[in-house]
Amino acid sequence: MRPRVDREACQGHNRCKALAPELFDVDDLGYSFPLVDEVPDELVERARLAVRNCPERAISLEEDERAPTA
Ligand code: F3S
Repeated sequence: MRPRVDREACQGHNRCKALAPELFDVDDLGYSFPLVDEVPDELVERARLAVRNCPERAISLEEDERAPTA
């Protein structure tokens, strides 16, 4: 699962960083960006929390289509 931030939608509310500092940071202008390419399993709920709490709905989680074959 990949975290995405819509930079045009982000208004710098900073809730993503407050709720999931392992996954999101904000740049010098206050806009969020993901810190990881893949959300570790143990942080999936935290990532979803950030999605739900962004007032601008700027965060999305993209399922990885390349599911591992086992
Ligand atoms: Fe931006 Fe939403 Fe985070 S507006 S700073 S992505 S809480």
